[in-house]
Amino acid sequence: MKYGRIVGWGKYAPARVLTNDDLARMVDTSDEWIVARTGIRRRHMAGEGETTATMSVEASRAALARAGLLPQDLDLIILATTSPDYFVPPASSMVQDMLGAKCGAFQLQAGCTGFVYGLATAQAFISTGLHKNILVIGTETISRNVDWQDRETCVLFGDGAGAVVVQACDEPTGVLSFVLGSDGSGAQHLRVGIGAREVITPEVIAGGGHFLRMNGREVFKFATHVMGHAAAEAISQAGMTLSDVDLLIPHQANLRIIELAARHLGLPMDKVFVNIQEYGNTSAASIPIALVEAIEQGRCKEGDTLCLVGFGAGLTWAAAVVRWGVSERPFAMSLFAPIARARTQAGVTLRTAQTVAGMQVTMARHQLQKRAGKAVEVAKSAASAALLPLYTRVDKWHTRDKRE
Ligand code: UT7
Repeated sequence: MKYGRIVGWGKYAPARVLTNDDLARMVDTSDEWIVARTGIRRRHMAGEGETTATMSVEASRAALARAGLLPQDLDLIILATTSPDYFVPPASSMVQDMLGAKCGAFQLQAGCTGFVYGLATAQAFISTGLHKNILVIGTETISRNVDWQDRETCVLFGDGAGAVVVQACDEPTGVLSFVLGSDGSGAQHLRVGIGAREVITPEVIAGGGHFLRMNGREVFKFATHVMGHAAAEAISQAGMTLSDVDLLIPHQANLRIIELAARHLGLPMDKVFVNIQEYGNTSAASIPIALVEAIEQGRCKEGDTLCLVGFGAGLTWAAAVVRWGVSERPFAMSLFAPIARARTQAGVTLRTAQTVAGMQVTMARHQLQKRAGKAVEVAKSAASAALLPLYTRVDKWHTRDKRE
């Protein structure tokens, strides 16, 4: 059996930051309340031109460069998100095109749990030998679906992206086990109420039906219960016990939920990664951003056992046990990494230039067509105006002839 080892990783956080004090100027809240109830201090907000597709591309470019791979080396792209650029097309295909990859791509929606679902899917493709290199991304531009007048939700969320390259290998490293769960009977607790069931109408928009709505207390209860259970199940499936776990990387929704889950598992907080203070809840991007930061801070060492665990809309939950092991990457590959990085960068720049040029050509063509259309209309009316006296005269003759 093949294992899916994580050989590349990258994250992207928009430069724009919204602090708790900023929020206190917008809604009836305070820094003290937000910190005490959630642990959040700041969150990053997508700026103009930043979307799920563009942020995914940034995180993916970093992950590919770290893996020493080119976009063309990818066999599949999985993008977990609840806030794609459009309903249709899937943002995953936009990312595939912007990267210049030549492979299948699909979008996955499992709420905040999406990234772990994506990792499990990648592992399934790899373990069967179908694919070798899979890009798994978790990205959200959730700020665009948030009601900025609803203090119960707007203080919680942030935007960002995280991506990993999962590569087939023979050694038991990478994803060792995973658990996926869903309980749709709790769907109403976390939802954006538009779609085929409730189409967008001016009335729906006026009632704020297009915003993310949440029953915080219910989600809190569900989360504290499910996080510990899912993690324990994945650990046991990997043939391990809790003492084998070096680092728990939980979904960053609320520090109190994380602490309760750790207590439930009997895991000390120094074995739990927390970065909620900086990003808030970035939904499907939260676990990959946390993973990347844990790696950057040297908290994932060769041979370490990580447990990723999340929950979210659906309601869904998922956990995966990952054995960290990157250094078995062929030495030659790391030598070529800077070259691959430069090629990736050049490829992306070229691709962006092509897209911009393509858009400009299309716009110019439309303008020409518009102008040509107008010229034809003007010529037609001029011709009609010129011919009108003639028509009138012919009509008069005709009427006179008939009378005679
Ligand atoms: O990724 C998954 C998505 N969501 C989650 O994981 C969210 C899970 N739930 C939570 O994290 C928590 O339930 C919240 C952070 C949303 C709320 O914390 P809580 O401790 O459960 O507060 P609460 O809902 O019980 O509300 C307590 C009070 C209420 O006032 P009253 O009724 O006691 O007078 C709220 O109106 O706090 C009030 N409140 C606020 N006050 C200041 C609610 N939001 C705010 C706010 N600022 N932003």
